[in-house]
Amino acid sequence: MSTSLIITADQSPTLLNEQTGEFYHSMHGAYTESMVVFINNGLKPFLTSLPAINIFEMGLGTGLNALLTYDHTCEIPVYYEAVEAFPLKEEIIKILTYNTLTVNRACDLFFERLHSSPWEVKVDLSPAFTLCKHRTDLLNFQIRPHYFDLIYFDAFSMVVQPELWTEDVFRRMFLALRPGGVLVTYSARGAVKTALRKVGFVVERLPGPPGKRHVLRAKKS
Ligand SMILES: C[S@@+](CC[C@H](N)C(=O)[O-])C[C@H]1O[C@@H](n2cnc3c(N)ncnc32)[C@H](O)[C@@H]1O
Repeated sequence: MSTSLIITADQSPTLLNEQTGEFYHSMHGAYTESMVVFINNGLKPFLTSLPAINIFEMGLGTGLNALLTYDHTCEIPVYYEAVEAFPLKEEIIKILTYNTLTVNRACDLFFERLHSSPWEVKVDLSPAFTLCKHRTDLLNFQIRPHYFDLIYFDAFSMVVQPELWTEDVFRRMFLALRPGGVLVTYSARGAVKTALRKVGFVVERLPGPPGKRHVLRAKKS
């Protein structure tokens, strides 16, 4: 898989998957999109209500969401589990400058270890941040039921990956969440909302980052 580096409108970099023409983040701002969709809409409401949080990410990719999660969880312990079917090459990761984007912590070592740590095992990246990443296709992954508080659903778009935005996948995400758990995603397509509602989520449309009017937060009540 070949990828190239692109600078987005807020000056943060993203990658272009040259086979599919899909970007890893919004061209209107990679950092801004991650902050709005995953950190502000997903993570932040839990920071005052939970003593510790279990997060699952669909598509670890560049690690931007994991890095920003670390940056914004100074107070509570995090267990972060992620799947990634197409891990990025080391030379690509090295040119991503995401470690310069953090506001609360110095994250150079964290970002390096996020990518260099082994697959399929739990690794403590800090005393309060445990990572377990799986090199696998989500469709073949047995996600642990009733275990997660928050899911970052960050697949490529429905246009190129229709198999991931289905009722069947969202049912598995629903089962993986504890009661009160939340799934956040950048897509606000009608078909995505409908599929989420059909499997039991209560779906909210929230204001999106630049270039996107709405994004979704889906709750398991
Ligand atoms: C839109 S990108 C987002 C990546 C990441 N969250 C980030 O911030 O860089 C989607 C990611 O999902 C991964 N992916 C695509 N299909 C997958 C699948 N079936 N199972 C697991 N990961 C997949 C891609 O390789 C890519 O890293």
